[in-house]
Amino acid sequence: MTKQTESSYAAGEPILEVRDLVKHFPLTQGVLFKRQVGAVKAVDGISFDLYPGETLGIVGESGCGKSTVAKLLMNLEAPTSGTIRYKGEDITKLSGRALKAVRRNIQMVFQDPYTSLNPRMTVGDIIGEPFDIHPEVAPKGDRRAKVQELLDVVGLNPEYVNRYPHQFSGGQRQRIGIARGLALRPEIIVADEPVSALDVSVQAQVVNLMERLQDEFGLSYMFIAHDLSIVRHISDRVGVMYLGKMAEIGSDEEIYEHPTHPYTQALLSAVPVPDPEAEGRRERIVLEGDVPSPANPPSGCRFRTRCWKAEARCAEEVPLLAIPAPFEEAESGAAHPSACHFAEERAAVVAV
Ligand SMILES: Nc1ncnc2c1ncn2[C@@H]1O[C@H](COP(=O)(O)OP(=O)(O)O)[C@@H](O)[C@H]1O
Ligand code: SF4
Ligand SMILES: [Mg+2]
Repeated sequence: MTKQTESSYAAGEPILEVRDLVKHFPLTQGVLFKRQVGAVKAVDGISFDLYPGETLGIVGESGCGKSTVAKLLMNLEAPTSGTIRYKGEDITKLSGRALKAVRRNIQMVFQDPYTSLNPRMTVGDIIGEPFDIHPEVAPKGDRRAKVQELLDVVGLNPEYVNRYPHQFSGGQRQRIGIARGLALRPEIIVADEPVSALDVSVQAQVVNLMERLQDEFGLSYMFIAHDLSIVRHISDRVGVMYLGKMAEIGSDEEIYEHPTHPYTQALLSAVPVPDPEAEGRRERIVLEGDVPSPANPPSGCRFRTRCWKAEARCAEEVPLLAIPAPFEEAESGAAHPSACHFAEERAAVVAV
């Protein structure tokens, strides 16, 4: 059966297809007799595709469900409902050997290289650890050489193999995390805020490294970040999340030059512009209030409590993620999916 699904996967099709993905964490009360009193709707029905060799950026404020999406893709959490197809096969239903085989092809790079690397293990053991689970990739005698090759690939001295994480800088530690993610030669890397904990000067170096590795190994990336500026350099497409939903998704040009969702427009208006003259001219949208609790999200459009355009319809009707009617026939960058009843372009949000 696996053979059949493999052969039905053709080049040019998405390598991952996520459909109506939902993750609700139950909220319980009571110590002895736990009762479910509600649920944190961390991810509440999101769909997207990831194509071979592309980078899909996922952006949104803290708490909107980005890491939960990453964990669902990695099979570290089981979805409440929905499907994740890898080369046509729903991986949420897999177990045992079939799951292990898929897991090899989807690897993760974590946000914080300070906490995600075991301080008591040498760099060689950290990078080589995935080989314990998949010895077929590097038989015991080959491991040291393989680990040293990986160090070299990520721009670290292969002689550092016996050092410990505290002997490296933040940027070097993230390189170690990336080397570990590459060890099994995956097809997909899910990077959850891989540069958010790094100094701005180091962020670009790590992003450049990831771009080079993508070309070298033909990787597909899902690159998660909380701000739109980092993602721009590396992404082919960008999805903007808000409170467990996808607000808008499109090519980088569509999202950065022709955003139609008020939330994206607000996020973009907060991105600093390097040119001081353009910075002075741009219009800043300041969002009022905090992100509501995902345990009790607003009815209708989840963004309505902070949206300056909200009308009665926004409280009653959930906006679907689709190309908005006014732009359906348009040959403009505005013709991309946006979950807003009143989607429109807002000119000169950012003068870049
Ligand atoms: N294991 C869990 N149990 C309960 N709530 C969780 C759990 N993991 C995440 N959450 C909640 O789900 C929401 C989304 O979290 P997360 O996916 O980490 O967001 P992000 O990565 O965008 O900051 C948050 O409100 C968070 O508190
Ligand atoms: S649907 Fe309404 S509340 Fe939601 S983003 Fe659009 S205008 Fe704002
Ligand atoms: Mg997170």
